[in-house]
Amino acid sequence: MMSVEIKENIFWVGAVDWAVRDFHGYETPRGTTYNNYLIIDDDITLVDTVKFDFVDVSIKSIKGLVDPSKIKNMVVNHIEDDHVTGLDRIMALAPDATIYITEKGRKGLERFFDTSKWKINVVKTGDTLSTGHHTLTFLETPMLHWPDSMMTYVQEKKLLISQDGFGQHIASASRFDDEFVTCQSVSELDDAVLDYYANILMPFGPIIKNKLAEVGRLGLDIDMIAPDHGIIWRSHSKKVVQKYLDLANGAAELSVPIIYDTMWKSTANMALAIMQGVKDEGLDCKVIKLRATPMSAAIKEFWKARGCLIGSPTLNNILYPTVAEFLTHLRGLRPKNRMVGAFGSYGWGGGAVREAYDEFKKMGLEVFEPGVQVNYKPSHEDELACYNFGREFAVRLREYHAKF
Ligand code: FEO
Repeated sequence: MMSVEIKENIFWVGAVDWAVRDFHGYETPRGTTYNNYLIIDDDITLVDTVKFDFVDVSIKSIKGLVDPSKIKNMVVNHIEDDHVTGLDRIMALAPDATIYITEKGRKGLERFFDTSKWKINVVKTGDTLSTGHHTLTFLETPMLHWPDSMMTYVQEKKLLISQDGFGQHIASASRFDDEFVTCQSVSELDDAVLDYYANILMPFGPIIKNKLAEVGRLGLDIDMIAPDHGIIWRSHSKKVVQKYLDLANGAAELSVPIIYDTMWKSTANMALAIMQGVKDEGLDCKVIKLRATPMSAAIKEFWKARGCLIGSPTLNNILYPTVAEFLTHLRGLRPKNRMVGAFGSYGWGGGAVREAYDEFKKMGLEVFEPGVQVNYKPSHEDELACYNFGREFAVRLREYHAKF
């Protein structure tokens, strides 16, 4: 795919990765893109590079527009591998370019490359760079989502090049949101935004709120948001900013995923009885078996809903491994404003449900106790207890949700 002009004299020169399904462990069923942007001006400026495997694609697009040796400025918004491993190749073609990067980015870059041969200019929030007819303003965004991260605002075009922020893992022939929703759907795009937020940005809600307030204080009037992954926000930039604010403020659906695993179907049968109880109390409910579901999809379902029930059989006195893995992953994402409960079957000792509650408490989640445990196989009475557990959870969840 060749370059695409996103604003006058500003071009997408990135690459579409249709095939990637495992993005450092994050399942990407829609693939992704690595976006970077070329500003053609008195001083030619490239904002970001791409993953090494795709750098030839990007270089081909750049060469279709300019001689790469004429690149004067190389802005590096983020040093994670998917954006910076192509930098060496670009700098070999543009040896006179000056790199613009945060201080933490500069330090990190030294760990990846021999930077002694490069001119590097460290920037901080509010610093500007004139390329002739464009003024670039840099905005540090530490921990969104790495310490080095920053965004670049192109004042004359009201364009925010937002690096990972507002991105989505979508491979598409469309470059813009309005094109994508015409060919696909709004719900597909919304789902991709939520998926990305849940798996990458969930821990950083307070930082996101502060950063968006800072954008307001700096008076950055944003018309277009061009992230480094997925679709460019041309028609819905305000909507995606509001969505980020809502998510950072803990927005969630009043629904209940039941996320579980099972050995001999006892915990699975408990999940079904609980689901019926939740449903009969009027809330939507999904049953998600971890061994049949990518981790990142389960995380997204957790984050989408106000409440979640976790089911695990006891294996060797502790949580079933897939459930333990899920809870460990979830703890790293520091979820907030969610209510949880646990259930599970056991043969002789038990322990999984207790461990699940220990994990919930470490995470500071709203806990619905006690959980339900069943010895070996749920009897009719046990299934009734599970059903009632589901109903009671739904009642409590409705009250909890009303606080938001
Ligand atoms: Fe898309 Fe944090 O890299």
